[in-house]
Amino acid sequence: MLFLSPRLAAAAGLLDGGKTVADVGTDHAYIPAYLIQSGKCTHVIASDIGGKPLENARQTLRKYGLEEQIELRISDGLRAYAPAEAEEICICGMGGTLIAEILDAAPWILRPGMHLVLQPMTHSEDVRAFLCGHGFVLRREVCVAEGRRRVYCCISADWTGKTEPVPAGFSYFGTLLRQEDAAAKAFVKKQYLRVKKRADALSGAGIHPEEEAALREVIGYYFENGGEV
Ligand SMILES: C[S@@+](CC[C@H](N)C(=O)[O-])C[C@H]1O[C@@H](n2cnc3c(N)ncnc32)[C@H](O)[C@@H]1O
Repeated sequence: MLFLSPRLAAAAGLLDGGKTVADVGTDHAYIPAYLIQSGKCTHVIASDIGGKPLENARQTLRKYGLEEQIELRISDGLRAYAPAEAEEICICGMGGTLIAEILDAAPWILRPGMHLVLQPMTHSEDVRAFLCGHGFVLRREVCVAEGRRRVYCCISADWTGKTEPVPAGFSYFGTLLRQEDAAAKAFVKKQYLRVKKRADALSGAGIHPEEEAALREVIGYYFENGGEV
């Protein structure tokens, strides 16, 4: 039985299963293998843009005898998927900007029943901004620490079709400012410090005043919603 890292276990735990899941950027296909082994899914599509990652995936499938249940596919994002081929889509371990671009290039995901589980390594604000601007609501967010320094967030979202404007601060912190657990607190603090560092650098250099003002607004949102120094 495959053992998932805390980061991948947190993402896999947010998937409903019971339907066809697509794992985009799968590399070793660890999440697909877990989904089959745990009985959460009977069919998973595991895709990646690169041949080498897909070879890694093939080795995992061979090792655990999962070739029948997991379909491997070369795909740039969701480009090699037929519309509605998967009801749940999982994208982990990529930058948030790339995740948002992949979702934006696949308008077929904007439909009732679509559930996304996303784990951005950076710029989670781009992911939340995409979701909130395209009819998704955040179902749940989970943060998880690995080692002493690394903390990751996983975002689960459902498509409802209702698009309501959200403050930029919500894109940066999502529902995590309301959470009491240590990993979520560490994640929002890191995010706040990153925004502050950039805003201070811009004001020090006297450049991009509009970007600085937008970042100061995000900082204001952080403190208005219980963020700590
Ligand atoms: C760091 S690995 C993450 C692997 C795994 N999902 C995880 O979270 O551990 C990122 C993977 O995304 C793949 N990737 C990067 N850009 C991609 C794209 N546009 N479409 C599909 N896969 C992509 C890379 O080839 C690589 O295998």
